[in-house]
Amino acid sequence: MCGIIGIASNKPVSSTIINSLRKLEYRGYDSAGIATLSNGIVSEAKSEGRVDILEKNLAVKNMSGPIGIGHVRWATHGIPNTINAHPHSSESVSVVHNGIIENSTLLKKYLINKGHVFKSQTDTEVIVHLITEYLKELNLKEAIIKTLKQLHGSFALGIIFKDQPNLIVGARRGSPLAVGYGPNENYLGSDSYALKSMTNKISYLNDGEFCIIKKDQVEFFDEEGLKVNKKVLELSSKEQDYDKGDFKHFMAKEIEEQPTTLKNCINEYVDKINNDINIYNFPWNIKEISSVTLIGCGTAYHSCLMAKYWFEENTTLEVTIDIASEFRYRKNRFKDDNLYIFVSQSGETADTYAALDLCNKNNMKTCSVVNVIESSIARDSNFVLPIHCGQEIGVASTKAFMGQMLVLYILVLKLGILRKDLDKDLYLNKIKDLKLLPKLVEQTLLTESKIQTVSSSFTDAKGSMFLGRGFSYPIALEGALKLKELAYVHAEGYPAGEMKHGPLALIEDGMPVVVLAPRDNYYKKTISNMQEVIARGAKVLLITNKSKDEVFSENIWETVLVESANDDLLPFLLTVPLQKLAYYSALKKGYDIDKPRNLAKSVTVE
Ligand code: F6R
Repeated sequence: MCGIIGIASNKPVSSTIINSLRKLEYRGYDSAGIATLSNGIVSEAKSEGRVDILEKNLAVKNMSGPIGIGHVRWATHGIPNTINAHPHSSESVSVVHNGIIENSTLLKKYLINKGHVFKSQTDTEVIVHLITEYLKELNLKEAIIKTLKQLHGSFALGIIFKDQPNLIVGARRGSPLAVGYGPNENYLGSDSYALKSMTNKISYLNDGEFCIIKKDQVEFFDEEGLKVNKKVLELSSKEQDYDKGDFKHFMAKEIEEQPTTLKNCINEYVDKINNDINIYNFPWNIKEISSVTLIGCGTAYHSCLMAKYWFEENTTLEVTIDIASEFRYRKNRFKDDNLYIFVSQSGETADTYAALDLCNKNNMKTCSVVNVIESSIARDSNFVLPIHCGQEIGVASTKAFMGQMLVLYILVLKLGILRKDLDKDLYLNKIKDLKLLPKLVEQTLLTESKIQTVSSSFTDAKGSMFLGRGFSYPIALEGALKLKELAYVHAEGYPAGEMKHGPLALIEDGMPVVVLAPRDNYYKKTISNMQEVIARGAKVLLITNKSKDEVFSENIWETVLVESANDDLLPFLLTVPLQKLAYYSALKKGYDIDKPRNLAKSVTVE
């Protein structure tokens, strides 16, 4: 899973490629590389690590070619080092690749028998040698078509040719690829975001298509090489520089921004005058829907699980949820009266996209909840509900998780009232409460100093647990995920009532355990479960909401109080201290908070 860029221009392109690669770093940051072409000579530079390191590479400074390709890598085949960094080149071809070639071992064998010598451990290198092999007998277009047909798996490719001084070939299957149109230059990129500083005129390649990009012309072809006409889309949003401001990390900024992003989103969806939710344009009659399936990965999956509880509480719809990578390979019983909802911040997650694609191929009703409205998932679903939280840079999702939960909750209320599952007064009251949410989140952010103090116990822990029941269970999972990915501490999220069926055996003297026990229907049960872990030596951080009643329970190590709200909204408030807990635990260790090891912001391989 990586990011690619290509530029065909009439002036040197290396510095523009470097700038675009910085924008693509959210897709991978193990290593980076660039190749430019000038007078039949390909100049190449690669580095392990970030784009900043690549930029310092002397070779980059000396590149003057007007045609170039660049890459940021998230390793799949072969460790992250300079040799495995892209572009990969033969004597005639250089390639950058996002995706995975599943039959690379077989292809490599075939190519080695033909005398090709491989330098890297990557799957990508087979593409280079296949094209090189076919170019011995075929013209450029024929060699590309033949090569693409040999590849199993997913790819977005940028290819330059030593003896073709004016062009770049782009190709796509499975992984996203956009083409941008500029003055006297044209571009290729993994997404429109990477191209936005250069142009807002974009086309997207469909699966199986390839294109030939020159400085003054772009041609698109289908997999047989027949010409395809493309719509040029004009992106509405102008590029806005999103910087850290006074914050040390994007994640810190994104957590603090949440009152504003939630408010913006509520303003988009809630009609101020008649207090109604203004989702009117469903492409189906609501009576045609009797069940819902929510699908996502990681944090987005947690928001799906959260929505399941809300759907069950506020509607009579039958609800199932699924992890995208599981959904796509199971024997699903597709149902015409089911609404399939895909949740994804980036809108590019390969597993989620594949699950959507499968539903589309079965003519199902599809809806997506995304942050990036130009994304593949948004473009290919019947109906889109944006979360309006602005760009999220920190790899660990924070404000987007809150945005996903918010939009799903809004959808729950809307379906609840349309189906008459919710009584009108209750609906209006819930909307009234919802409008208070941004303020409550803002007040809950003030739990910061207490969280900062307790975080050192998590920083040094061998392992930890996050427990919750009912509405708090998905948040326990999310809290554990955040601690794992940022502070590299083993953390398990568990339903509090399930501990006695096995995981209690993990509890050791002094083990930090977070218990989420807001004053909802589950409160007393969760407090009992909390005592069961305290009795076995756990050091419990209790997170509950403010109340006039004291917490009558003994031997709690620390308590953090979030604001109070109706039960539906408590999950938002419980999330805030958990985000901060993960942040401060990682900060104390000096880890790279915005770019945790081994991860990437957009997961475009399965
Ligand atoms: C964790 C995190 C990931 C993403 C997951 C899905 O903090 O951000 O678990 O939620 O990779 O990504 P999207 O939402 O882009 O589909």
